[in-house]
Formats: sequence, structure tokens, C-alpha cells
Amino acid sequence: MCGIVGYIGPKDCSDVLVSALTKLEYRGYDSAGIAVFENDAIKTVKTQGKLKDLEDKLKSVGKPQGHVGIGHTRWATHGEPSDINSHPHSGARVTIVHNGIIENYIELKEFLISKGREFLSETDTEVVAQLLDYKYNGNPLETIDSVMAELKGSFALGIMFKDFPDRVFAVRRESPLIVGVAEGECFIASDVPAILKYTKNYYLLEHDEIATLTKDGVNFVDEHLDPIEKELKTADWDMEAAEKSGYPHFMIKEINEQPDAIRTTIMPRIKEGLPCLEECGITLEKIKNFKNITIVACGTAMHAGMVGKYVIEDLARVPVNVDIASEFRYRNPIINEGDLVIIISQSGETADSLAAMRLAKQKGAKTLAIVNAKGSSIAREADMLIYTLAGPEIAVASTKAYITQLSVMYLFAFELALAKETLSEPECKRLVSALIKMPEAVSFVIKNCEEKCKYIATKLITSESLLYIGRGLDYALSMEGSLKLKEVSYIHSESYAAGELKHGTISLIDNEMPVISVATQTDIIPKTISNIVEVKSRGAKIILVCTDVCARGLKDGVADYVIEIPHTDELLMPITAVVPLQMLAYYTAINKGNDPDKPRNLAKSVTVE
Ligand code: G6P
Repeated sequence: MCGIVGYIGPKDCSDVLVSALTKLEYRGYDSAGIAVFENDAIKTVKTQGKLKDLEDKLKSVGKPQGHVGIGHTRWATHGEPSDINSHPHSGARVTIVHNGIIENYIELKEFLISKGREFLSETDTEVVAQLLDYKYNGNPLETIDSVMAELKGSFALGIMFKDFPDRVFAVRRESPLIVGVAEGECFIASDVPAILKYTKNYYLLEHDEIATLTKDGVNFVDEHLDPIEKELKTADWDMEAAEKSGYPHFMIKEINEQPDAIRTTIMPRIKEGLPCLEECGITLEKIKNFKNITIVACGTAMHAGMVGKYVIEDLARVPVNVDIASEFRYRNPIINEGDLVIIISQSGETADSLAAMRLAKQKGAKTLAIVNAKGSSIAREADMLIYTLAGPEIAVASTKAYITQLSVMYLFAFELALAKETLSEPECKRLVSALIKMPEAVSFVIKNCEEKCKYIATKLITSESLLYIGRGLDYALSMEGSLKLKEVSYIHSESYAAGELKHGTISLIDNEMPVISVATQTDIIPKTISNIVEVKSRGAKIILVCTDVCARGLKDGVADYVIEIPHTDELLMPITAVVPLQMLAYYTAINKGNDPDKPRNLAKSVTVE
């Protein structure tokens, strides 16, 4: 997704903008650009490609010299990646950067063309720049306000008016934007890591609020242009957390951070050996009457929901539907007053998940958000909120956020089962104490399985396609393993419920096909093993992820490679079993020469439909 930055202050503005943009690279982008006031004129430099390409261009055309400017990384939506379509975009007296989608841009463009305006790019953003210019009345705030009234869709905008070389304006609706402040300088950014090098203090811009940044500070007005006071926030993580700390990639760093991420997420929510979610607005009394639960999310977060379904249904005996947010929101879902809808999201800004949550609220459901990004839209609008305390996740492929989403799903399932009286307190205490031991088990897996995963990954790079199979919880986990591999290695893979293989998919098996089988649930292991034997006898290469207990009972030659993980409580096995799947994906990507942190075509935070 696009990333926005802006700066005003004593430093070299071009340098600050480019450096801040590097911290937003994780969002995914295909072009980059900056615009800076140089001697009261706005100088824009932009290019298709990576920030390195922008830096090269800045060297060749001359870096704008100044102290006020805006910058952008673009993830193409309207118009292909090209120099012309890159941001910033300008009208005669205004230059802007934009994240989001203007849904009514065609009508607005037609209107502006009818008024004699000409367009250079295919973007919806240029329409906003031209509309600002068209409506400009000498007063930037009034102009922005009147343009905002005409825009439909989502936007975060950084705006500069030619007549006001000492100011940067910012506004948002739906798309995220923060305003950072330090002594004698101010920033705008799509996300906190962009400003951490300079300051930890920032304001969260709310919908339709307009910020005016000068070197002396920032003022905010609401949509009626009335001044507003806002609460200054302080980031509770630092640059170190947003940097690689010596790891070659964020993805492997974040895999290694998982034990701590789980600990940080669960420990404050456990009191006297039992789950305690009161600080998240959740009490036994409040949740005991929920009869139906729907979990809505996208991507990896949806896969955490799949595990949640198994666990909640097993422990609390409440039926759970898991739905993809983009499907849920457009199919008139059956949600009744008094139902619980759980939204899981790392970023808290995924457009479909946010819309799904709003729909659930309209239908009278109570909403519970499980979110990583503090103060994000989903976090703010949910009725109940459990933060996953994974810290900033920078790699596009989610790892530590997923594992903390699982951890929260467990805590919630325990609490619900207590409320429903389907789980006794002693049994719950036993599960909680098993959960507390999971960080250690994850550390063990990272330490003991990494070399093997590295080795097996060398065998996967020539494959064109892979299958992941499992049953029950192992199937839910296989979905995540398969997605991880696809995302970073670009190898096609599918996950299948092992028992479903013979109903079609087994026809794909030949000597070229590796099959990754997850088998952690003792009662169904024999069934999965017989599925493995079926595919093996048709030539498949088997990589088996199973518990040490299961491995001891394996007959010779059943699997080509076995990755053993320690046996823990079986309900909790996805927490450890996901780790080798993440490492297999990571090392396959590395062996193929891919950048696992920024996979092609993917964005970390999908803030448009
Ligand atoms: C994108 C990311 C995935 C993520 C999904 C949902 O596709 O690349 O890693 O799982 O969005 O994002 P969310 O922020 O809502 O968890």
C-alpha cells in the first residue's frame, strides 16, 4: 500500500523524506517520489521503481534543497506503475501525495475536464490535486474542507500549497495518517516507524480532521474548521524494534521474536493461573450469552481464525463460522443481534476487515477486535479489543503477528469456555499453564529445526507446485504454511484436508510433487499417515512435520524428511508447528534469491479493496 511522509524543520528535507520512506517500504510499493519547496517553488522528483532508483534520480537531476516537503511510495491501483503515475501529483498551485482510493474520481475528472483542466496521469490522485487547485480560494483550510466534502472513498493526503511555502497540510478519511512532533520540526507519516528516527511523539489524525504543520508545531481543525485539541501519544517501541538487529531479513528476525511476542501478549492477561481479559473489556458475564460466533479476517489473520474455530468449538461448544472479510461484506451474512463477530487484523486497517466489522455492528452484533497496530481504525471502532502485543511487524509475510493472534484466540477460547461452564477451573488452569510454556517450546523449535528446514528448503526450489495436508487443527495450520510459502517463494502450493485428497487432488501427484504433511494430533495421526502412504506410493516426496512422540512410532521410509517438534498439549500444537512451516518458506525464498521481506505484488497493509 502507498506510504506517505512529510517534513518541515531545519534538516535537509529531501534526506529526511527518503529516509522516512525507507521505513515504509514494508507496505509494498512500485514507485516513489518527493516534492520539496526550493526557494518558494515546489520541486518534484519521482520515478517508477524502488527508493534506490529515486535516490539515483535525485543525484542525477539534483536533490531539491529545502526544509518543507512531502514524499510517497506508490502501490499502483489506478494506472500502471510509471514515472507519470508516481506521486506527488500537482495542480498549478498545489502538490499532493495520497494513500487510498477516490471512488468517484471518474465523475470528478469529467467535471474538471469540462472546465478545461488537462490531466497528465491515469491516477485518481491527480484528480484530487486538480480539484484542490480548481477550488483554491486563497485559504488552504477552506479549500481542503470543500474538496473533502466532494470526495468519496478513502484517503490520507499530504498537501502543499505554492502560496504557503512554510506549511504542510494533512488530512485523512479511512486511510491511516499520523503527525509526529519534535522540537522545531514536524512530520506526517502513514505509520510510526517512519518517524521513529526523529521522534517518538505523535498524534493520530482522526477521520476528516485537518492538520497544519509549521516548524513551530501543529494545529488541528475538524471538518467544520473548528480548532481541536488532540492527545499526544508516545510510541512505546523504538528504532531498534523497527530495524533488523543483525538479522539478514525482517522475516527471520520476526520468526525469532516469536517467543517474546507470545510472552508479552499472554502474560498480562493471566491472573492466578486463569485468563483475565477485563482490561480488554471482556468479562465472563459479558460473553456468557453469545450463542454464535463469526470470525472475519483476511490472509494470515483469517488462518488464525481457522485455528480459533477449532479451539472455541472444542472447548466452549459455541458454533463458529470463519469468513473471508471481502466475502462476508458483500453477501448479506446471517448475523443476528447478540451474535459475536471477531475481527482479526495485524494492521487494524485492512479495508475489507474494517468494512466487515462495521457491517457486523450495523446488524446488531457485538464486535471483538484482535489487532496488533495500536490506535488503528479496527481497534478504535470495536466494542471489545484485545491487542496482540507483537510489536511492529515489518516483513510482509506475517509470522509473529500470526502466532500472537493464535495465543489470543486460545486465551479467549479458555475464557469463553469458563463462561459457558464447559471447562472446569482446574482444567482451564492446566491449559493456561501449558500456554505459558509455549514460548519456551517455540524457542526450542527455532533452535533445533532451523538447520533441517534450511536443508529441506534446498530441495524445494526446483518444485513448481506443492501440497500441504493435515486434518483438523493440522489442516487449519497447513493453510497458513501453504500461504507463507506462496507469498515469499512464488512456488504454487495448496493446502488440503488430508482426507479430501482422494476426491480429486491426488491426480496431481507425481515424482515432482513434494507434499508437506502436518501431523500433531495423536488421535488422527494414523489417518494422516495412511494418506501419506497413498501419496508416497504415487511418487510424492514427503516432508512430515510431527511431534517427537509421533516420529518415534513412524515406520522406516514413510517420510523422506521428518521435522520433529516437541509434544505439548495437543490443542496448542499449532503454535509450535507453524514455526518450521515459516522457516521452510523463508529459506526457500532465500534459496531462490527472492527478497522475503518484500515479496513481489504484495502489500503489508491492504487499505483498499
Ligand atoms: C495482507 C498481508 C498479509 C495479511 C493480510 C491481512 O495480505 O500481506 O500478511 O495477513 O493482508 O492483513 P491484516 O493487517 O488485516 O492482518
